[in-house]
Amino acid sequence: MENRKIIVAIDGYSSTGKSSFAKIIAQKMGYVYIDTGALYRAITYFAYTNGFIDNGRNINEEWLKQTIGHIRLCFKTSESDGRCNIYLNGANVERNIRKMEISEKVSQVAALPFVREYVDKILKRYGKERGVVMDGRDIGTAVFPDAELKIFMVASARVRAERRYREIVQSGGKESFEQVLENLKKRDYMDEHRSVAPLVKADDALLLDNSNMTIQDQLDWLKEILKVRFNIDITI
Ligand code: DC
Repeated sequence: MENRKIIVAIDGYSSTGKSSFAKIIAQKMGYVYIDTGALYRAITYFAYTNGFIDNGRNINEEWLKQTIGHIRLCFKTSESDGRCNIYLNGANVERNIRKMEISEKVSQVAALPFVREYVDKILKRYGKERGVVMDGRDIGTAVFPDAELKIFMVASARVRAERRYREIVQSGGKESFEQVLENLKKRDYMDEHRSVAPLVKADDALLLDNSNMTIQDQLDWLKEILKVRFNIDITI
């Protein structure tokens, strides 16, 4: 494998399988994987559990703006299962941030410019040495417009909702398929229409529509690109 380390920026819609794909790529390339949505989710969780977002989803923005600098966020790899977990002020909140009450509120929090600024600073630190795979919504457009490889993932809303619903059922969640589909569409809309760093494909990103692709198909696709463009060999 070539020594030059690159940044792989994977953006796209919710539940397109970005994180599963990004995790495998990072492992195959020997890179660090960063789930950037987890940072927005952890900030949302922090605001919600401190009573600064109500169930009508009103956010006390002033309070969050004043407090955000005190929120310590980092990723740590679990020794037991090798998974990467997010820590909020020293506590592992990986499971809590995936709950529906957080999913319902996170797009609003992620639309706040000062929140994006805070997260961007963290991400830029992680990407300083390159050798990272990041998945999110604006990595290739706003955080690392100079990323060497940009992938934009899409799949039909129904396929994505089915995937998400399966995950929820497996983890004991109670939401109906319709609720999951509805939440997903709302988030798509908010992510695409926010004024700061909206979800959009970078001109130089490669489009990956995986509606009808297995993970193996996607890895085969990527293997070829890494070889041809960067002379990087990965074993799949
Ligand atoms: O990928 P996810 O569903 O965990 O992301 C949670 C939310 O965070 C989602 O509504 C979009 C937002 N997000 C973002 O605005 N920018 C990113 N780079 C990553 C996520």
